[in-house]
Amino acid sequence: MSMLDINDLNVWFGHGRDRVDAVKGATFTVARGESFGLVGESGSGKSTILRAISGLAPLWSGGMAVDGTALSKQRPKAFYKTVQMVFQDPYASLHPRHSVDQVLGETLHLHGFGDIDARVVKLLDDVGLGQKFRFRYPHQLSGGQRQRVAIARALAPEPELLLLDEPTSALDVSVQAEILNLLVDLRRDRGLTYVMVSHDLSVVGHMCERLAVMQNGQIVEIMGVETLRKMEAKHPYSQSLLAASV
Ligand SMILES: Nc1ncnc2c1ncn2[C@@H]1O[C@H](COP(=O)(O)OP(=O)(O)OP(=O)(O)O)[C@@H](O)[C@H]1O
Ligand SMILES: [Mg+2]
Repeated sequence: MSMLDINDLNVWFGHGRDRVDAVKGATFTVARGESFGLVGESGSGKSTILRAISGLAPLWSGGMAVDGTALSKQRPKAFYKTVQMVFQDPYASLHPRHSVDQVLGETLHLHGFGDIDARVVKLLDDVGLGQKFRFRYPHQLSGGQRQRVAIARALAPEPELLLLDEPTSALDVSVQAEILNLLVDLRRDRGLTYVMVSHDLSVVGHMCERLAVMQNGQIVEIMGVETLRKMEAKHPYSQSLLAASV
């Protein structure tokens, strides 16, 4: 069974004359354990797809199902035990006055775990930070370390599906590779499924098995990474995107 089924998804913001149709008729599936990329120009609707899956974009129609369960308008708390999101900007996504220990501890508490101390310790090790970072605040961390905390927080509920919205594009190039390698290892070790937005086709080529190319709210082509590597895209827009990336 697929981990994620998106069927003729439309997402919009606003009403009447102010309405913006951000995603139009998107259809794709992601198998359990697969890593699926979303690429395309700025404003093409990539983040909106992730936000709609997470329940952060309330105006949508069509079908979305996670692990065979259709999503309704409201996400039950249990949903976030299965699906977690990592955002582009770890500065914005971490509360400045909450220590790493608080961030992880509160997330674990929220999800009903009892052995919080042991789990915080384990999570910090799992993301390559270790205990010396446990009582630090976001401003005492580098961008890469902060993104590791955001990843640890996403892993805390033991999710199966991670939605990654440009998880490394706010970071220095040298740090990007470290975080991408961490994500590769975590997927392998935990059998996670990824949907990953990226501007960078080489990142998607490294991280994903398949990808969808978006333009103006629509998926214009879905291809395997082999097609990406061989530059054999069919749609003119995908071809121009690939050509621009070499
Ligand atoms: N909260 C919102 N209210 C109104 N319009 C929005 C909102 N969020 C996104 N949009 C619009 O929806 C469209 C898709 O935006 P989205 O953020 O999904 O693009 P994107 O592909 O992620 O772009 P980028 O690569 O720049 O992150 C854009 O036209 C954007 O202006
Ligand atoms: Mg975006």
